[in-house]
Amino acid sequence: MSKNTGGSSYDKKLWGGRFESGPTGDVIQFSTSIGIDWRLWEADIDGSIAHAKMLGKQSILTEQDAAEIVRGLEIVRKQIGEALAKGENPFPIDVEDVHSFIEIQLKAAIGVTAGRLHTARSRNDQVATAFRLTLAREGEALAKELSQLQAILLKRAEPEVETMLPGLTHFQHAQPVSLAHHLLAYFWMFQRDRERLSDWMKRVRVLPLGSAALAGTSFPLDRGFVAKELGFHRPCENSLDGVSDRDFALELLSGLSLMALHLSRMAEEFVIWSAPEHGFLELTDQVTTGSSIMPQKKNPDVSELIRGRTGRAIGALVQMATMMKGLPLSYNRDMQEDKEPVFYALDSVRASVRLTAFMLEGAKFHSGKMEASLSGDFSNATDLADDLAKKGVPFREAHEIVGHVVRHCLNSNLKLEDLSVEALKKLDTRFDETSKKVLLHRSVMEARTSEGGTGPSAVRTQIEKAKTVL
Ligand code: ARG
Repeated sequence: MSKNTGGSSYDKKLWGGRFESGPTGDVIQFSTSIGIDWRLWEADIDGSIAHAKMLGKQSILTEQDAAEIVRGLEIVRKQIGEALAKGENPFPIDVEDVHSFIEIQLKAAIGVTAGRLHTARSRNDQVATAFRLTLAREGEALAKELSQLQAILLKRAEPEVETMLPGLTHFQHAQPVSLAHHLLAYFWMFQRDRERLSDWMKRVRVLPLGSAALAGTSFPLDRGFVAKELGFHRPCENSLDGVSDRDFALELLSGLSLMALHLSRMAEEFVIWSAPEHGFLELTDQVTTGSSIMPQKKNPDVSELIRGRTGRAIGALVQMATMMKGLPLSYNRDMQEDKEPVFYALDSVRASVRLTAFMLEGAKFHSGKMEASLSGDFSNATDLADDLAKKGVPFREAHEIVGHVVRHCLNSNLKLEDLSVEALKKLDTRFDETSKKVLLHRSVMEARTSEGGTGPSAVRTQIEKAKTVL
């Protein structure tokens, strides 16, 4: 253990009075959070300004003291902002957390009046407020980036309504689908992700400040005023819940995990599509890398990393849920561990959203390869069975008959679409000219005009809907 560096100086921490000595170097290092929670700095200042204004308005402080505190906090905001803009780190490692740091800086700026700011407040309601405010703001930025990705999906989908590629189930050719339809499937996943974020906004913007340490305070607060100043919907209803609830962080992490899952599915398809066996897609040089040994390689690293980073979000969710499980009311220091996983997941998912958009924007689709891969793939077989069913054959029987037709083709090395009307008739007398026509892959795709289907007319309707939600 390193030597005792404790003491009661208000210049380093906010709670020295009761102690004769203080934590040792190792303990300080173990318990400080400023290396992570510095990201709350601006929300913390905003929260403090709202609190100070309310204290003045309620005559809990004099109007002069409140104004002096607000002035001081703006000085601190400027100092930190300028240092960050210069690429400097203004946050010293030996201060417990960002809240302590800001109060210490405030004292340096305006002197003893700074000590009045913490009236009717605890770090417990302060940190919950700053964390909520920070996440609400970052969540908004993420939602914007998601909608930009959706816009690119839409932009890339629109010209590809008529482009066909194999639609898969069990990773086997199933039925041909429109490339636009395939891309739009992701559009709707990201739409749900964005809706989840906006629903979460209702709950994250609820104000803990005024809960004080856990039980509220004897000072005549106006919590509604503070909520309004900070853009929160309302004060929380219960002070114990106010300081100890972290549902908002868990909810965000679960939303981020879903986003990461969606992004990883798309990334996986980019990897597959860009493999030479498929050649459906060509990624730009900006998002691919070469090999140090194999000169021919062009690897889809960015897609792979997006796919690989899914674990960050899911891991963060599990980490946070495990930290919260079984904690008695109300605040426990365990909860200081809440920020790292959230910022880790948030940064990772945000970067993945941005890079997916960038990758998609530059990607080249090789529609010729997509269409060529349909040839002889039997993804038109359902429609041949449907043709018989439309002529009155029970679908189960039609399925059986077409199964035999497929076997016949496989045995004689023929493509289903190449069978002549005569050859079809020989296999079943109910086949005719129409049966031959439905076998064209394009007809198969075009026929699927049901709402939400892949037929170009249905896809065009879908595109209009997508435009209205964006
Ligand atoms: N840094 C602490 C956190 O993030 C602030 C709250 C500290 N409260 C306390 N009672 N020690 O949780």
